[in-house]
Amino acid sequence: MAEPQSGTVTSRRGFLRTVGVTGGAGAMFATMGALGLAPTAAWAAEKEAPFQAPRSGDFHLQGRHGKPAKVVVIGGGIAGLTSAYELGKAGYDCTVLEARDRVGGRNLTVRGGDTTVDLNGHRQTARFSEGQYMNCGPGRLAQWMNTLDYCRELGVEIEVFTNTNASALIYNEGNGMAAPVQYRTAKADVYGYVSELLAKATDSGALDADLTADDKERLLTFLKSYGSLGADHKYTGTEHRGFTVDPGAAGTPGEQLGGVPSLADVFASNVGRYFSFEFGYDQAMLMFQPVGGMDAIPEAFARAIGHGRIRTGAPVTDVRNTSDGVVVTYTHNGRRRTIEADYCIATLAPHLLARTSHNLGSAVQTALEAVKPSQASKIGLEYKSRWWETDFKIFGGITETDLDLTHIWYPSYGHLGERGLLIGYYNTGAASETYSALTPAERRARAVAQGVKIHGEKYRTELAAAFSHQWKLTPYLEGAWHSMPGGPDAPAYAPLNQAQGHVYFAGDYLSHLDAWQHGAIASARKVVTELHARVLAS
Ligand code: FAD
Ligand code: PHE
Repeated sequence: MAEPQSGTVTSRRGFLRTVGVTGGAGAMFATMGALGLAPTAAWAAEKEAPFQAPRSGDFHLQGRHGKPAKVVVIGGGIAGLTSAYELGKAGYDCTVLEARDRVGGRNLTVRGGDTTVDLNGHRQTARFSEGQYMNCGPGRLAQWMNTLDYCRELGVEIEVFTNTNASALIYNEGNGMAAPVQYRTAKADVYGYVSELLAKATDSGALDADLTADDKERLLTFLKSYGSLGADHKYTGTEHRGFTVDPGAAGTPGEQLGGVPSLADVFASNVGRYFSFEFGYDQAMLMFQPVGGMDAIPEAFARAIGHGRIRTGAPVTDVRNTSDGVVVTYTHNGRRRTIEADYCIATLAPHLLARTSHNLGSAVQTALEAVKPSQASKIGLEYKSRWWETDFKIFGGITETDLDLTHIWYPSYGHLGERGLLIGYYNTGAASETYSALTPAERRARAVAQGVKIHGEKYRTELAAAFSHQWKLTPYLEGAWHSMPGGPDAPAYAPLNQAQGHVYFAGDYLSHLDAWQHGAIASARKVVTELHARVLAS
């Protein structure tokens, strides 16, 4: 998967999964055969047991003892909401304490009228018009992700999110590109020249030790079509590169884009570095988004849990295991309060829990401190016209650049409408830090100056409103995702992967899909399963 990375996969199941992901089901079954595993039986045995939500009927089963317990959930992000929702199905008495004034955590959608104050004291009010929104955190969902199962279960309407678009652009200023190129052009040239080189090697006999005559024949057939090679096996350009005048009526065949760069220039531009992104198991099309904004997911969770069970504006200040439960202290409307419960599920960011008073012990504290936050940020730019659709014919998708904007996202909603909202930068690491050091007005000016290099003056002149969101500066979050060398199963984090007394830990960081809601949900479901089993056995 693409950055950010989770841990290395070493188990037999993980290995088989990797073979399956990269080589398809055929390769996977062949590998299983080679390992001496009968495909059907072994496959069934190796598959993870699907999550089973706790049910109230579980308490009446023979040999079961416990009864639904009282649970306090710290954090109303996706992990906290999933925990309360699933436990609620079996009648657990859950209270969610959320420090911010809304649920969702990193699942944050900003619309016109929304105000934020960051940790540097910068206040921004979004001036976006009706119907325009900006997903500051999550924006896309892969088809296999459990997040979509909750969209189905909770009635959240979804639509396609365009993650890759042949009409979007690539611009690497640092590689000396004079102008951006369309993805389709870049791909045609890279695939063309790579195919030419491989054909040359095949024709010259350089691969004779690896290929039979039949293999060579088949490889050349593939390369000729993949790279659009001529009869001489040379790449000289193809209509895959695009047109300057589109094909039309009889007598108007169109004009193919000319000026095919040399092989050396194509590789020097380094456009190919972006191509493997779309192969990622987590980033491959089709992808989806909730209609109207990603926060439809936490809102639907909150409705299903019951707003009465969720306290917002309630930052937790102390977590304490007692002999038979937990005591959690928080503030609400300026007053200090405590809540006693049988169990606690702590879903706040580990680097924040590390700064919160607790009696969970030094091993937990060391593990919490070992998880470091990583940074990311976005700016929403609303425009008076959808010039990227009218002038550039780009309907959704992402432009990639080595400028500190990193990614520009075109909206996957509101096509053909009057106005529209771009994500003008979506950057991480050092580029994100650069923008965090600026005021919101400076961020807007910098983002626009950079964007003009790619799209020209309309990037400035059509701009109606801007809103920037830096996760580093966001109260009660202070990070986008996590750096965890070795992944969540490394010994350093072991104390967080098991209950400490009556306290459980959940969040995307305790999953193999950090930086995805799928990971937060998977982690919450693991804890719900463990807690429920413990209660049933008690
Ligand atoms: P959080 O959302 O961090 O929830 C923790 C909660 O604890 C927060 O609500 C916080 O306010 C609260 N809290 C903190 N301190 C306290 C306290 N003292 N007392 C009470 N409450 C407290 N996922 C996708 O599925 N698709 C994407 O495209 C995607 N893109 C992303 C892009 C960005 C820029 C970011 C930042 C994230 C993205 N993600 C994406 C990841 C996704 O947002 C997270 O995986 C998920 O939301 C994490 O949920 P969580 O509950 O584990 O943590
Ligand atoms: N899930 C986030 C996103 O899709 C962060 C991420 C980026 C994760 C790239 C993996 C690869 O934007």
